[in-house]
Amino acid sequence: MNSDPFVHTLLEWYPHNKRDLPWRSTNNPYIIWLSEIILQQTRVAQGLPYFEKFLENFPHLEDLANASEETVMRLWQGLGYYSRARNLHFCAKFIRDHHDGIFPDNYQALIQLKGVGTYTAAAIASFAFDEAVAVVDGNVFRALARYFGIATDIAGNMGKKEFEALANTLIPKDRPAEFNQAIMEFGALQCVPKNPDCANCPMRLGCVAFKNDLVDSLPVKIKKLKIKERYFRYSYIVCDGEVVVKRRGEGDIWQGLHDFPMQELSEASETSDERVYIEESKDFKTNTVMESEKWYKHILTHQRIFANFTTLIVPKENRNNLQEWTNSNGFQLVSSEKLDELGKPRLIVKFLEDQK
Ligand code: ADE
Repeated sequence: MNSDPFVHTLLEWYPHNKRDLPWRSTNNPYIIWLSEIILQQTRVAQGLPYFEKFLENFPHLEDLANASEETVMRLWQGLGYYSRARNLHFCAKFIRDHHDGIFPDNYQALIQLKGVGTYTAAAIASFAFDEAVAVVDGNVFRALARYFGIATDIAGNMGKKEFEALANTLIPKDRPAEFNQAIMEFGALQCVPKNPDCANCPMRLGCVAFKNDLVDSLPVKIKKLKIKERYFRYSYIVCDGEVVVKRRGEGDIWQGLHDFPMQELSEASETSDERVYIEESKDFKTNTVMESEKWYKHILTHQRIFANFTTLIVPKENRNNLQEWTNSNGFQLVSSEKLDELGKPRLIVKFLEDQK
């Protein structure tokens, strides 16, 4: 038995506070697996009727395995994340056909099953087979982060590993199932995300977050920046040593720097209908059009820019037309020496270096 006060208090608290949930009174791995798959991304109150319905229709693994996909999907209807139902059915058939219908009985074998990740494998291994492997879900992160005062980001891989390691040192080898149920239940009922009732929490005397007024700031979850991908199709228009440039305005990246006339595409697709570029709308003649295959990449904090260049060579005698077109579109026609001096995005500099 682990002597950590956290474990001791948790196992004292659990029997007096636990909800009476049907999957807790069994060590049948099929029933536990069914409940855990249903409870992924689903609250207990919403999942409970589905669990009962599935168990009624498929009391044993082979009943589920022998059911039609249509029956399974119909019973799942309304629960969402339908890949869970397809994986559930696939797994039942897989165990029937490749494991003689006998559920795998340890963490390493369980994690091989489709739809079974680290959390679900730990839950089944401990609840059904008393294997001492700790479950780590959102409830567990929260309880551990607050009690032990851990500020590692739970959204990152390092954080997940740190919490898993801690939970695995805490889990008592003689009561793994009870510990896992208890810590999840503690997170779900007592150490709740918002306004937890710390005044009535049995853990408060040992809780770092409570003692340091950190309950609202733990656990730390750093939101991943959503990185937007943008595709720029540039026209590099050259006429007798001069180049058409555009000074970038306000309200977007690279303000004040110079690039070239450009069309932004919604994707890199070569067959995109948007592939109408300067070439088709201009009123000056070109004698050469060269499309570069290469996509130049530029990574910013919130954006990833991919740029592709089409080179248009305008014959000398069309310079006046080009100048007119340039002026009327708010661009500038500059000498290559001037272009060298202008501030440019790195991606443009790289492209120009490739032209030498
Ligand atoms: N959520 C996911 N698994 C659970 C379980 N075994 N008991 C309660 N809530 C859960």
